[in-house]
Amino acid sequence: MGQHLQAIYDTRVAEGLLRPDPAQRAALLHLESLRGRLEAPQRKGLLSRFKRSEPVGKQGLYLWGGVGRGKSMLMDLFHTHVGIKERRRVHFHAFMQEVQAALHEARKTDVDDAIKPVAAAIARNTRLLCFDEMQITDIADAMIVGRLFQQLFEAGVMVVTTSNRHPSDLYKDGLNRQLFLPFIDLLQDRLEVEQLEAMADYRQDRLAGEPVYFCPLGAEATKTIDAIWRDLTGGHEEELCLKVKAREVRLPRFWAGMARASFWDLCGQPLGPGDYLALVGAVELLVLEGIPRLDASKFNEAKRFVTLVDALYEGQVRLIATAEDEPERLYLEGAGSFEFERTASRLREMQGADWGANRETL
Ligand SMILES: Nc1ncnc2c1ncn2[C@@H]1O[C@H](COP(=O)(O)OP(=O)(O)O)[C@@H](O)[C@H]1O
Ligand SMILES: [Mg+2]
Repeated sequence: MGQHLQAIYDTRVAEGLLRPDPAQRAALLHLESLRGRLEAPQRKGLLSRFKRSEPVGKQGLYLWGGVGRGKSMLMDLFHTHVGIKERRRVHFHAFMQEVQAALHEARKTDVDDAIKPVAAAIARNTRLLCFDEMQITDIADAMIVGRLFQQLFEAGVMVVTTSNRHPSDLYKDGLNRQLFLPFIDLLQDRLEVEQLEAMADYRQDRLAGEPVYFCPLGAEATKTIDAIWRDLTGGHEEELCLKVKAREVRLPRFWAGMARASFWDLCGQPLGPGDYLALVGAVELLVLEGIPRLDASKFNEAKRFVTLVDALYEGQVRLIATAEDEPERLYLEGAGSFEFERTASRLREMQGADWGANRETL
């Protein structure tokens, strides 16, 4: 048994890495008790799990609340310190993509209910699933999560998840929502549902008053952006793949609602408004590196960049960027250079300390 999660938290506060927040500290109590249950010696014997007579109790925590309150940070702290090997932390969206792929495979065989073997395979080597950013927007996901999670819970899997919404607001206004409602009941029945009413939007705090636009390009800008990224992500990252219609947009460097990509990744390829909207739906903050000065021959790249900035602007996404020059000097001649003035002005506005503070949760 390791140190109590609250003690670990207090150490980070003492080291100046975190600001003390009673709501965050309180949330760790739930997580500590889950940890105790997970680390308790397991009963051996083939039938022991069926013979159990005491009630199973809640099987995890659904932690929800506004952006930047520390939900992902708390979940990661928990996940890192739970002393069992059979645990997994994964972005909810990425998990559902894996599930859909596994279902697709299972349906090729002669099974009545493809969810059964898929859930069983997950439960076989996982006792704890930690999901970041549970949200459901896809009808294919909405139609299976109820039975999938029912089976995971029955197999004894514990679940900790973060979300920007209360369970009853998941898949709001979604198609065939009545078929989705049992999942909401299941979550509320099986999980402790807790709102994290932390004192501040810490992400906003971390960036407030700090420069977020760095030019010119070079070793110094790269070093700065590396340091910011490390500070924001704690050195973690994973790949997130967004499905847009039949296509995929890959974000190789993603963590807890933040993505890091180069100008050429996002504007050097044939991506369009739908792709940028999907990106905006998935991130609260984008680190965009290496915006070049564009000449008239690069009107396609310029046009995509305009579309990208519009999407980020509308969606109130925080932008941290490195660029060859000031916004106003990035695209001076070529098709659409007049309209680019608006983009430059938006890039200025997005550097403001309060930018993104009123972003609506999706
Ligand atoms: N108490 C705190 N003091 C300082 N920084 C914090 C605190 N809680 C969270 N942070 C930082 O604020 C940022 C946002 O936290 P995060 O857990 O991603 O929020 P959420 O998941 O609720 O949107 C992260 O960089 C995180 O490390
Ligand atoms: Mg988060």
